[in-house]
Amino acid sequence: MGCLFSCCHPCRRETSRRIDDSRNGHAESLEHRKNQSMDGGVADCVVSFTFKDLANATQNFKESNLLGEGGFGKVYRGKLESGQETIKQLNLEGLQGAKEFLTEVLILGTLQHSNLVNLVGYCIEGDQRLLVYEFMPMGSLEDHLFHRAPAMAQLEWNTRIKIALGAAQGLAYLHGVANPPVIYRDMKAANVLLDNDFNPKLSDFGLAKIGPVGDNTHVSTRVMGTYGYCAPDYAMSGKLTMKSDIYSFGVLLLELITGRKAFDTSKAAAEQNLVTWAWPFLFEEKRSKKLADPSLRGRYPENALRHLVVIASMCLQEQARFRPIIADVVFAINFLATQPYIPETSRIRRSPSSSPLCDTRTPSRFHC
Ligand SMILES: Nc1ncnc2c1ncn2[C@@H]1O[C@H](COP(=O)(O)OP(=O)(O)O)[C@@H](O)[C@H]1O
Ligand SMILES: [Mg+2]
Repeated sequence: MGCLFSCCHPCRRETSRRIDDSRNGHAESLEHRKNQSMDGGVADCVVSFTFKDLANATQNFKESNLLGEGGFGKVYRGKLESGQETIKQLNLEGLQGAKEFLTEVLILGTLQHSNLVNLVGYCIEGDQRLLVYEFMPMGSLEDHLFHRAPAMAQLEWNTRIKIALGAAQGLAYLHGVANPPVIYRDMKAANVLLDNDFNPKLSDFGLAKIGPVGDNTHVSTRVMGTYGYCAPDYAMSGKLTMKSDIYSFGVLLLELITGRKAFDTSKAAAEQNLVTWAWPFLFEEKRSKKLADPSLRGRYPENALRHLVVIASMCLQEQARFRPIIADVVFAINFLATQPYIPETSRIRRSPSSSPLCDTRTPSRFHC
């Protein structure tokens, strides 16, 4: 194992030394190192693994360790010294895969935030390119919204707000704290991964772009992203701005509200594109209830639903300049998080002095 960047950043050299210590028997777990770094601070060391390390970790990429397969290769669960991790073996057909591998290592390897998935390491050996991430036990938001296994519970309103807030905070870090800023370019439910408490983390930075610097307002790129999430201005001009991410985030909010996919070919033509279908309901207060995911069974605070629809509609403005900046979106969703859904029964049982934020039936974010 080696450590990327350790030679050029003093803090990284420090972390690297700790990893070497652990190999000498002074075990310092990855979790402990993670706890030591502050959000937005210098990222943990990104470790360089050998192919043998990762083959051993996944029992030779055994089928039973396969977690899923995305556009860029297979994803396995693996056991390393640091604990349970996720190993993505890139399918490097074509140039794009190799480019995305480098972008992922260089960008995600330098960022650290509790709402971004942690890149533990990578492997470059011959033709092999692998990435090692922290393991996210609850899979992706897409799994929970659209491919729910029978044993999985429906996502409740409060959990959806928690996920929306965390995803917005991850984006706010990329746009407002990372220096230079980063345009994510791949905000979608499949890339929002969930830990055991449904804390969301953004993943897949292969398409990310270092944002405009100085007086520039955009970065020119080949249009890439995921159908249904792509901002119309970016699709037409190839000019990528932070507001392109805001549009995609608006689509993600609509998915959380409606339980419908951004683009769903199994639906009738008029309903395939979520934004097109939802548009007539977005600007009429009385009709916003029609957008609510039927699987919520009315279990949401009506005011908060209306507000979330308004936030989504602002993010989805056709003209990029009318979309909000992500810091304002975080502020607005944070406010909604203070108005959790409280089931009727627990409302009756609560003593008059108890605050809604102390209700233990709501997810951990709302606990006192
Ligand atoms: N860090 C991770 N922890 C747990 N599961 C993951 C992780 N990264 C990806 N996955 C799972 O692997 C699958 C494939 O992921 P990925 O290759 O990113 O493709 P996509 O984003 O197109 O779904 C996803 O369904 C996701 O649930
Ligand atoms: Mg992904």
